[in-house]
Amino acid sequence: MLAAVACTVLVILRTLAAVQGVHAAQAQTADRSAAQAGLLDCKPPGMQTAGTRPNFIVILTDDLGWDDVGLHNPGYARTPNIDKFIRNGTLFDNFYVAPECAPTRAALLTGRHPLRTGTVKVNSGYDFIHSAEMTAAHYLSAQGYQTAHFGKWHNIQTLGYEPWHVGFQQSWYIDTNLKDGAVWHNGNISYVQGYTEQRLAGVLLGYLAKAEARAAKQGSKARPFFVYYAPRAMHTGNGCQSKPGLAARCFPPKFRAPYRARKYSGIANNTLDAWAAAEYLDSVVGRVLGQVARSSLAGSTYVLLASDNGAQLLPGEETPAAKLIRMPSGMQGSKAVQQQRYLFAFGHQCWSEEALPLLGPDREVLRPQRLLRYNGGGLPDYLEPVGGEWLSTANGSYRGFEMCIAVRRGQYKWIGLTGKVYRFQNGSHIELPCNEVPQPQAAAIAAEFAAAAGAWWAGIAAAPHSFTKPVFQVGLQSWNVTNVLAQGAHEISGNSAGNVRVLPNALAGFVEAGDAAWWSLQVLKPGAVSVVLMYTSAVAATFSVSIGGYQSIANGSAPNITAVLPAQKRMLGVEVGTLPLPAPTSPPTKSELRLQLLSSTKPGAPIFTHLGNIQLTLGGKKNAKRRRPIAAGEEEEEWLDLRSRFNWPDGQAGEESPYSPFDAEGIAHCEACQPPL
Ligand SMILES: *[C@@H]1O[C@H](CO)[C@@H](O)[C@H](O)[C@H]1NC(C)=O
Ligand SMILES: *[C@@H]1O[C@H](CO)[C@@H](O)[C@H](O)[C@H]1NC(C)=O
Ligand SMILES: *[C@@H]1O[C@H](CO)[C@@H](O)[C@H](O)[C@H]1NC(C)=O
Ligand SMILES: *[C@@H]1O[C@H](CO)[C@@H](O)[C@H](O)[C@H]1NC(C)=O
Ligand SMILES: *[C@@H]1O[C@H](CO)[C@@H](O)[C@H](O)[C@H]1NC(C)=O
Ligand SMILES: *[C@@H]1O[C@H](CO)[C@@H](O)[C@H](O)[C@H]1NC(C)=O
Ligand SMILES: *[C@@H]1O[C@H](CO)[C@@H](O)[C@H](O)[C@H]1NC(C)=O
Ligand SMILES: *[C@@H]1O[C@H](CO)[C@@H](O)[C@H](O)[C@H]1NC(C)=O
Repeated sequence: MLAAVACTVLVILRTLAAVQGVHAAQAQTADRSAAQAGLLDCKPPGMQTAGTRPNFIVILTDDLGWDDVGLHNPGYARTPNIDKFIRNGTLFDNFYVAPECAPTRAALLTGRHPLRTGTVKVNSGYDFIHSAEMTAAHYLSAQGYQTAHFGKWHNIQTLGYEPWHVGFQQSWYIDTNLKDGAVWHNGNISYVQGYTEQRLAGVLLGYLAKAEARAAKQGSKARPFFVYYAPRAMHTGNGCQSKPGLAARCFPPKFRAPYRARKYSGIANNTLDAWAAAEYLDSVVGRVLGQVARSSLAGSTYVLLASDNGAQLLPGEETPAAKLIRMPSGMQGSKAVQQQRYLFAFGHQCWSEEALPLLGPDREVLRPQRLLRYNGGGLPDYLEPVGGEWLSTANGSYRGFEMCIAVRRGQYKWIGLTGKVYRFQNGSHIELPCNEVPQPQAAAIAAEFAAAAGAWWAGIAAAPHSFTKPVFQVGLQSWNVTNVLAQGAHEISGNSAGNVRVLPNALAGFVEAGDAAWWSLQVLKPGAVSVVLMYTSAVAATFSVSIGGYQSIANGSAPNITAVLPAQKRMLGVEVGTLPLPAPTSPPTKSELRLQLLSSTKPGAPIFTHLGNIQLTLGGKKNAKRRRPIAAGEEEEEWLDLRSRFNWPDGQAGEESPYSPFDAEGIAHCEACQPPL
């Protein structure tokens, strides 16, 4: 019977309340994720417990909506492999993930609420897992497991935080920002022919085959494995556009063809394309599920499949009717799991780019108490705007904390944004009008949940890693290059609010002399670093770059260099000189990097359009390779495209340029790809 994966678990997230046009604030992640609870509670029938340690494969899909799975939405996307997996496994239909990608990933890997790990949202330097957090890979590695990561990461791309630094012995890394065709293996970039997802699955199949051979040879002495497999197939923006107006997703045309033939009236083209991508995903994931099921690993391997968040809605998909197609579904007749504790969610849209990085002197951690005022010890009733409006609704009024929060307990769910309370009965978990709890009962429940949320928030605020920014490590292992991602600044000391702005993947601005940004460094090797700034700017200006202790930088006694930065339209690295590093200490202490505006050729005008990163290369210039300059006549758009797409990937690998965002020549555009494997 279960020749297949003996105990399969399927979890597809539920993104809620699409009906209300509400998003993000409602989805929730428990402190200890249901995924991990599921792994622990679900024992494969027939698994030999004595002396056998199970293997784990955790599959985390990207942007796959509940209804993108054929079984949940018959007649649309056809996902026979995932359907079969569901039928043969255990379906958790009352399972919550965070409302977006990086927080869900952080929760899954650490088993903790993402806010506690420092992961607040998907960008602006808030997609890092604090380096003191323990990941499942750390834990299982220490237990003798072989650990491997395949696919997307997004927790994030800089030295010390990548899979190969946080417990994964192997990593084949693709990211959303990386064009189809490029893969890092343990930090070395390589290019693959063919559609990346299929190639990646091929590598994973090889890994599993080796594990099976090991088990056959060594029996119970064989090391078990933990595989974290994160296909990104559904995500847009990987460099392939099938036609104008459609999301750029990379997959073979044969998956689109049936949707041209079938007639769907009133369904957005982007929805049809998402379903085509879901079928591609299913075919790729199906190869992995199939191999496990057919192999001798089947009886000793837990497979869990979940999505990181709901369907990403694209143009044409935002109407209530379109949302209903991809987001929640009826889910009648399923088992309702009773949570006897509170689950809390905090929506990412509550953070403004301006407010978060405004930290006090020498502090890595933004304490939310600075931003929140508490209402008599109960629910903090609003977030204090810092540096301007940061919680404005479309009509300009503030709602604050309650706008961002949703609470679930047992059958009841309170949505702060709408103030509504729902009771989920008969297996339905969607905020539909028929589920709404009437007054006055709703008000009583809302008050109770709001109070609980206030207490929960106070705990988050006091937790050591909440809202942290990354500490950029210099001299980790054999790596000589550290990319200090500009958006990872932990402090902005602008003379006026908004002088220095945090963009999702960059900083912008610097207007008045004295405007500065600060980043935390951890120096692990002695020496000096050559400093390269990668930026586009509208105005030539003079900056100082300092490295040292916070106070020494502040009082001018730290080593610094003066950098004359020309205006440049293209994202290029400009080498500004060499700075000595503070002596490494044991245990390592935090140092600072500061960039401060000294003078500008156009006072009052913002300077950087994008400051991408500050690259520090140990050993000085001799290790830095200069990428060829952009030739005259090369398309500006290509570079703008690269800049926006590639998020200035890590420059650690030899093949990668410390000067330019990416080696564009090496990337095979997937339209020119070979036939799929
Ligand atoms: C469950 O798996 C077994 C073995 O692979 C297969 O024969 C059976 O058809 C599957 N059942 C469902 C409902 O998919
Ligand atoms: C990267 O590739 C080089 C050259 O093949 C190799 O020596 C090095 O060990 C690789 N680094 C990692 C982290 O795999
Ligand atoms: C989908 O695209 C076709 C053109 O390729 C267009 O004729 C059609 O109206 C579009 N459908 C929707 C629902 O937007
Ligand atoms: C304005 O926003 C407030 C708070 O979100 C809301 O209660 C009110 O209904 C809104 N008014 C309009 C006209 O949308
Ligand atoms: C749940 O099922 C019961 C019994 O079938 C029915 O009376 C009740 O109306 C249902 N409630 C909801 C909210 O659908
Ligand atoms: C600057 O600060 C450092 C570190 O606190 C201190 O050692 C040094 O004496 C200070 N220098 C001046 C000139 O104040
Ligand atoms: C740079 O260092 C010099 C001393 O070498 C100091 O006088 C100057 O104030 C420093 N500049 C900045 C911006 O810290
Ligand atoms: C790092 O720098 C050291 C000293 O400059 C050099 O010997 C070493 O080869 C470099 N390592 C890499 C991986 O480039």
